[in-house]
Amino acid sequence: MHRPIIALDFQNRGQVDSFLGNFPEEEKLYVKVGMELYYAEGPEIVRSLKAKGHSVFVDLKCHDIPNTVKGSVYSLTKLGIDIVNCHAAGGIKMMEAAVEGAREGAAHYKTTAPIVIAVTQLTSTSQEELNEQQKIPGSIQDAVVNYAGLAKKAGLAGVVCSAQEVDLIKEACGKDFVCLTPGIRPTGVELGDQTRVMTPYAAREIGSDFIVVGRPITQADNPYEAYLQIKKEWNSFTK
Ligand code: C5P
Repeated sequence: MHRPIIALDFQNRGQVDSFLGNFPEEEKLYVKVGMELYYAEGPEIVRSLKAKGHSVFVDLKCHDIPNTVKGSVYSLTKLGIDIVNCHAAGGIKMMEAAVEGAREGAAHYKTTAPIVIAVTQLTSTSQEELNEQQKIPGSIQDAVVNYAGLAKKAGLAGVVCSAQEVDLIKEACGKDFVCLTPGIRPTGVELGDQTRVMTPYAAREIGSDFIVVGRPITQADNPYEAYLQIKKEWNSFTK
């Protein structure tokens, strides 16, 4: 059974604990810890989630010189995390360093290396910002596919992308190249600030390997029920 990744976009551990209190203890989840929560609570929040048996994607989008990124991923690997990411804009050498950090950290701390994926072009970037500010010519899709190609070259397992980009990325990088997609909304649910959204079923159909879902679960009246519904929809597509 594939599990949707729940974005734990909370400000402190108390909020996380109260949210997780909606789930039976035996339900092992896949969760995402982003900057908001990590910067508030530090590695301890990740340790406690892992100790409860959950899988954790640490979404810190590392972007620095290769040596620093290597050290960051090495440190995060100590926590036994499952997925980590870095910015493809850091370049091939930096991404290679992230993979090395994961490999060496896993060997040193006798744990499994996390899956390393890249953030391509942030979806908040407009066409004008891309061309006029960042001086990257071409379309946003061109930039996304280029970054995905660099990530593949560097030995990363895949990228974070919009579900609308999965087709193009799989075409360019191969079907085994992991596409992790946020911006998922089950039919009939509030869109929030997400505009280009896809249902869990459609995302699966198009080839997403992981979906990240936040508010449709975290803000639901009954988070466990909302989670089960999304998990069911995500698993209902069979090729
Ligand atoms: O609440 P919602 O389902 O919109 O949360 C989606 C999660 O995925 C958030 O943690 C958000 O930061 C992240 N994300 C996103 N769109 C992107 C990249 C990341 O929504 N393009």
